[in-house]
Amino acid sequence: VRIAVLGTGTVGRTLAARLAGLGHEAHVGTRDVEASLAGTQESWDGSGTFAQWHANNPDIALGAFAEASAGAEVVFNATAGEGSLDALGAAGDLDGVVIADVSNPLDNSQGFPPLLSVCNDDSLAERIQRAHPGAKVVKTLNTVTAAIMVRPADVGGGDHTMFVAGDDEDAKATVRSLLEAFGWRHVVDLGGIRGARAMEMYLPMWLQLMGARGTPMFNVKVVS
Ligand SMILES: NC(=O)c1ccc[n+]([C@@H]2O[C@H](COP(=O)([O-])OP(=O)(O)OC[C@H]3O[C@@H](n4cnc5c(N)ncnc54)[C@H](OP(=O)(O)O)[C@@H]3O)[C@@H](O)[C@H]2O)c1
Repeated sequence: VRIAVLGTGTVGRTLAARLAGLGHEAHVGTRDVEASLAGTQESWDGSGTFAQWHANNPDIALGAFAEASAGAEVVFNATAGEGSLDALGAAGDLDGVVIADVSNPLDNSQGFPPLLSVCNDDSLAERIQRAHPGAKVVKTLNTVTAAIMVRPADVGGGDHTMFVAGDDEDAKATVRSLLEAFGWRHVVDLGGIRGARAMEMYLPMWLQLMGARGTPMFNVKVVS
């Protein structure tokens, strides 16, 4: 399946590499290919500069947002929350496309910990859905660190919970099958895209837990 991953950060790199490893045709999208390849900042995940990561993953195509998204059945939004609407706006016609939205609407203007730029009565995922009424937005994976997104078995033997929220049942089924391929065994459907509010508002809890545990390598499990 042709899948676009919009985002060159840790999340975009991690998702694209795993999807390619699973045999998908992965395309990574960025604002400016040359600028991204010229970037000298090394990622905290050990994958180096973007150019180094790209050289180590030669099978993954790289293009501007529209180029990467063209013909994709699924588009992962792995861009900074503050830029997500612009990134998807630049991605071309997304009618009929499944947008798997893994972003968080972080507002870093007040320092650490970040605030949420949208919450309570709206969410970034809903804003994306409103901006692209012909697309099918599914919120998922924003509640865990990048490494766990694609290899849940690396913590707690994979015995923990992922969430999905979205208005289109077929799109959720498509995303669920990708999650299962990553190794997710417990996926809780929170209903329509409005459920993304709760998933995004989990972020302050995630940050507290990271401080308490001293590592981002954790997740929660829903039991009853
Ligand atoms: N890091 C994690 O483990 C983690 C876990 C869960 C969720 N998330 C969420 O996943 C998303 C990606 O996180 P990340 O840490 O990989 O990287 P990030 O630094 O949050 O985002 C980098 C990407 O955002 C794009 N971007 C930034 N500003 C933009 C703008 N104004 N317009 C268009 N695009 C813009 C960049 O484009 P260029 O390529 O052009 O530079 C780059 O591709 C974020 O929303 C984050 O909150 C992260």
